[in-house]
Amino acid sequence: MTAPAAPAHDIVLEVLEGCAPFARAEAQQLGEANLVGPTEVRLRTADLTGVKSLRRVVAAYLVLRIPARRPTELLETSVQQEIAESIALIRRSAPKPRFTGVRLRAAGADTAPMRRLESEIAAGADLPVQEDGDLVVRVRKAKDLLVSGRSALAPALPPGPAWELLIRLTPRPLATRAWRTVNYPGAVNAAIAASALDILDVGAEDSLLDMTCGSGTFLIEQLHEAVPERIVGVDLSAEALAAASAHQRAARRRGRIDWLQGDVLTMPLEGGFTRLISNPPWGTLLGEHETNEELLRALLGRAEELAAPSARLAILTHEIGRMESVIAGGTGSWSLLQEHRFFQKGHHPRLFVFERTQG
Ligand SMILES: C[S@@+](CC[C@H](N)C(=O)[O-])C[C@H]1O[C@@H](n2cnc3c(N)ncnc32)[C@H](O)[C@@H]1O
Repeated sequence: MTAPAAPAHDIVLEVLEGCAPFARAEAQQLGEANLVGPTEVRLRTADLTGVKSLRRVVAAYLVLRIPARRPTELLETSVQQEIAESIALIRRSAPKPRFTGVRLRAAGADTAPMRRLESEIAAGADLPVQEDGDLVVRVRKAKDLLVSGRSALAPALPPGPAWELLIRLTPRPLATRAWRTVNYPGAVNAAIAASALDILDVGAEDSLLDMTCGSGTFLIEQLHEAVPERIVGVDLSAEALAAASAHQRAARRRGRIDWLQGDVLTMPLEGGFTRLISNPPWGTLLGEHETNEELLRALLGRAEELAAPSARLAILTHEIGRMESVIAGGTGSWSLLQEHRFFQKGHHPRLFVFERTQG
């Protein structure tokens, strides 16, 4: 006798603009996943543990769709019971999360009905209401979701006026990695790093170099995918490399990374890399704009020296104008394959992907 299939849940995946196609492809390994906007993927799956291991999303929420016209209807006992049961389900799902307080996020979160809703949810979960609570519940009016002309809602969900409660599955956003124990200024968002590595298309047969590795985000993210034969991270800063090594230890993944301190432009380094990546200093946070342009140009040149034939190079930078002016001045044997835009809290980093075409 086979065990009955576990019931599937409706999940909302919050994503950064630019990460959505990669988040969707990753989520499709768990169930039917649809893009319903530039920053949202809807997924149906019974595998909550699998959802918590998604690496290209910012945060994942269990969705309750409640037929209701007004938020006050969400205070009804049957609805409160449903919410409490969903929170209990989330708390039972491995790895078991430990929440410390409830925080409601909604348009009009300060209105009396929303405040009451927040305290009822908190009481049902036996937790306090906290301004920085880690059991995050988003409340919003439900929209009818159409994907390719058909409803993206689960078949059992009734159409008509409804509200949605989105209960976050984890105390911290998924993009805030457990391995990130050191706060390194300028570190790239891990969901963007994972998506950028998808675009660069790194495999087990590759040798991978991060020319300006900082706290090691790209290389540690790659350890969660196919582990390349050779992995090298270079940075000028001893502090950066100490952070990168600490992060690698905390990530506890198989695979060796050589962390090397020095100026990647001049230090002796055995070449032959098939995949190269760099997220050079940008703005005034790290480095100066003018020297950043020279650095971008120099990185392209040095990457040529260190690359195998047909290698690929990806540069993630906020310095779009300067990168474009470097490209206009000539990129040697690198041909620009594509540009991919990301969007994160007012920043617009862009990934420039090159392929080595001669020599
Ligand atoms: C934006 S940070 C990289 C952040 C990194 N992606 C992370 O997630 O932590 C840029 C890094 O480039 C390094 N850097 C700048 N010039 C360099 C050079 N010539 N050789 C090696 N590293 C360099 C800086 O020390 C800094 O750590």
